Amino acid sequence: MTTTPRRYHITTFGCQMNKADSERMAGILEEMGLLFTADPNEADVVLYNTCTIRDNAEHKVYSYLGRQAKRKHTQPNLTLIIAGCVAQQEGQTLLRRVPELDLVMGPQHANRLQELLEQVDEGNQVVATEPIHIVEDITKPRRDSNVTAWVNVIYGCNERCTYCVVPNVRGIEQSRTPEAIRSEMEELGRLGYKEVTLLGQNIDAYGRDLPGSTPEGRHKHTLTDLLSFVHDVPGIERLRFATSHPRYFTERLIKACAELPKVCEHFHIPFQSGDNQILKAMSRGYTHEKYRRIINTVREYMPDASISADAIVGFPGETEEQFENTLKLVDEIGFDLLNTAAYSPRPGTPAALWENQVPDDVKADRLQRLNHLVGVKAAERSGRYFGRIEEVLVEGENPRDPSQVMGRTRGNRLTFFAGNLAELKGKVLKVKVTEVRPFSLTAEAIELCVSR
Ligand code: SAH
Ligand code: SF4
Ligand code: F3S
Repeated sequence: MTTTPRRYHITTFGCQMNKADSERMAGILEEMGLLFTADPNEADVVLYNTCTIRDNAEHKVYSYLGRQAKRKHTQPNLTLIIAGCVAQQEGQTLLRRVPELDLVMGPQHANRLQELLEQVDEGNQVVATEPIHIVEDITKPRRDSNVTAWVNVIYGCNERCTYCVVPNVRGIEQSRTPEAIRSEMEELGRLGYKEVTLLGQNIDAYGRDLPGSTPEGRHKHTLTDLLSFVHDVPGIERLRFATSHPRYFTERLIKACAELPKVCEHFHIPFQSGDNQILKAMSRGYTHEKYRRIINTVREYMPDASISADAIVGFPGETEEQFENTLKLVDEIGFDLLNTAAYSPRPGTPAALWENQVPDDVKADRLQRLNHLVGVKAAERSGRYFGRIEEVLVEGENPRDPSQVMGRTRGNRLTFFAGNLAELKGKVLKVKVTEVRPFSLTAEAIELCVSR
């Protein structure tokens, strides 16, 4: 008798951290002998890796979950898992809301999936949300790409931005050792990966929880030191990192990025607001002047660097004038990409309790005005690429045109050009840009680049 292997499905919401966690959880499930299916209705194990950064992100989960909970009534063998940030935030409450759930597990427990599922198999309903020391992972993630990969360098966040749930759901900062990071990257290099993005919610905090300091009194393991330490990993040709915090982004780091050839000239540095009073109310720890100085310094060292950021409109108390300071900053800096959001009050955060909330229609109006400006500026920024020679790392096929491949420039612009994927995947090519759109480019291949 042959038994069909059990199948699992994972849907991931939220940020790159969650995507990286999902890849590791998928790796664990595959190691347990399960096969992936893209259709949750066919799966024996359904896992939602959730996000709670804004109210709408959280609601999406409940509608997905409702459908699967129903299915469980006819298929009692279905295992239903909720992981990630909603799981961490709601914990036990989720079991009351959705009694069909088998496992509720916070982000710090991602690497423990197998052990938790064994407890489920013993007939328990399991909630794993207590803070723990994150165990180094021995499982191989099932990565979505075989060209680019994420590598966590620091988990958690010790900042207390007054709007943000992340410190509540991701816990305190825990840095991985430089050796563990390097060895994961060496493995990636051996497997043929070409690009690594180092991940942390506040990546500039890397190393401050690790022991050791330099004779000058600085932490021994900073992000700058880490970049130098991993720079020569064989096979890895490009390095990126995210997310940067303006409070800690140093000139020393900028200088290192300019000097290290594998580090791409793209920086994701959220500013959140262009108004000093709002920044203060957000507890961000910098002024718009300081933010501008950082961008100027980046551009002094790397004149063509591309800059992306996040911004929030309609934070409690934000006046029209204060919002216009955000517009002004966006207009003057010229971001290549800006993620925008209307402020969403989150449970367990200070700003959610303030009385000076901005009405929804005002937030929606500001969001629309900001997005309009973002499109205009992104188009301007894309314009500079026209006719230029750029280096593109080929990642896959253009989903809209199989005769074209797609990849990214060092500045992180999505680029399409005619070519054969089987031949070009994982290769870096020099291309000439022939068409520009606000968030993507079309080009012609010129020649293969030699490895760095
Ligand atoms: N660690 C990063 C970002 C974390 S969350 C940083 O410090 O910038 C990703 C983005 O979601 C934030 O940059 C912010 O723009 C947005 N965000 C976070 N909380 C939010 C909230 N309550 N309402 C609206 N947007 C929010
Ligand atoms: Fe949230 Fe602030 Fe931490 Fe970013 S730095 S994750 S916005 S608390
Ligand atoms: Fe969302 Fe959690 Fe990331 S709340 S943005 S998935 S850290």
